[in-house]
Amino acid sequence: MPGDFYLPMTLQELTAHVSQQFTKIYGRQPRWIVAAPGRVNVIGEHTDYNGGFVLPMAIERYAVMAADRSTDGKNVIQIRDTVKGVEPTLIDLSAPVKPGTPKWSNYPRGVVAGFLARGINPGGLDVLLHSTVPLGGGLSSSAALEVCTATLLEAIAGKKLDPVEKALLCQKAEHEFAGVPCGIMDQFISVMGRENHLLLLDCRSRKPELVPMNDPSVALLIVNTNVKHELSGGEYAKRRAQCETAAKILGVPSLRDADADALELVKGKMDEVVYRRARHVIGEIERTTHAAEGVRTSNWPTVGQLMYASHRSLRDDYEVSCNELDAVVEIAESIGIKGGVYGCRMTGGGFGGCAVALVKAGAVEAISKKIAVDYKKKTGIEATIFGSRPAAGATVWPVRAIK
Ligand code: GLA
Repeated sequence: MPGDFYLPMTLQELTAHVSQQFTKIYGRQPRWIVAAPGRVNVIGEHTDYNGGFVLPMAIERYAVMAADRSTDGKNVIQIRDTVKGVEPTLIDLSAPVKPGTPKWSNYPRGVVAGFLARGINPGGLDVLLHSTVPLGGGLSSSAALEVCTATLLEAIAGKKLDPVEKALLCQKAEHEFAGVPCGIMDQFISVMGRENHLLLLDCRSRKPELVPMNDPSVALLIVNTNVKHELSGGEYAKRRAQCETAAKILGVPSLRDADADALELVKGKMDEVVYRRARHVIGEIERTTHAAEGVRTSNWPTVGQLMYASHRSLRDDYEVSCNELDAVVEIAESIGIKGGVYGCRMTGGGFGGCAVALVKAGAVEAISKKIAVDYKKKTGIEATIFGSRPAAGATVWPVRAIK
């Protein structure tokens, strides 16, 4: 694929770049290099905290950390960012680790606290962070940062956590240090992603199932509306609470245990908004397992229709879309299958961020151009559009291999 439509650097090149930057900034070579990917969710939105199914894939955008033990004898983890002007993070290990500043530091802080609670103390470190996951784009830049930190601490300790425990530790960091009551999808996929596969995750049993996605005739386009999404704003927590209310009225532990008929039976006992929230979740869980079947059988028109249905439900029943996301989906729909688009929907928490489109691989360039032009016309905003193949989850890079 020409240009930087796909990741402009391979992960190997990226880690080499971060290694060089580390040497420039800290005056010596790093001892560890780790990377953890962001994700795009193909379908299954706002289902994870309802015990439902999600179908994400890891993307070729990563948080990368290069590190070495600090040389000043202090028991402090120092994390600098390759972006100029970003305030460095200092995590003092000689006192209990608490949320602090800068705001972004709460993701690594929470993870460090989780390791300390397990008796794993990495000691003083010099760390350089470089992330290619767009911030606030709904592609899990925060989960990538958490999982990257956890992967670094594992490498330093020479001890791997169980992958489920690792994902849960990172989720806890997000709950307790960043104040976002997120589900489990983002951390799971960043830990467990596999090249050429989507991950169908049953968020109740936490059982992951790899779904091969390597049909060269299709591609996934990620369209960043460049409208920042902010999950700590309270709307996410409100949706969670509404789902819990609905489950209580239905008399089930979570909405995963309800179906459309049961919901209709109690409709009269529910606030209309709570009813619509539950209708989204119940429908979305069903759409997700159908879509996974569609991917397994390369039934792309069906997967595409399910994506459109998911978007409508998120827009009308769950009310987490926004005009810009709707604009992208409308443009995609107007291009249609004839023009190479099977389906499109908002992805991630919503209120801005990205849409994901399933398209014919041969039409990627033309579709990207058309979406960019029409989106600018409709909203006055420049979209950022890129593609990604399903990538591998968090990895430790042997430093010797990248020198
Ligand atoms: C955010 C959360 C996830 C999930 C999605 C919505 O990305 O971090 O846990 O709930 O929103 O599907």
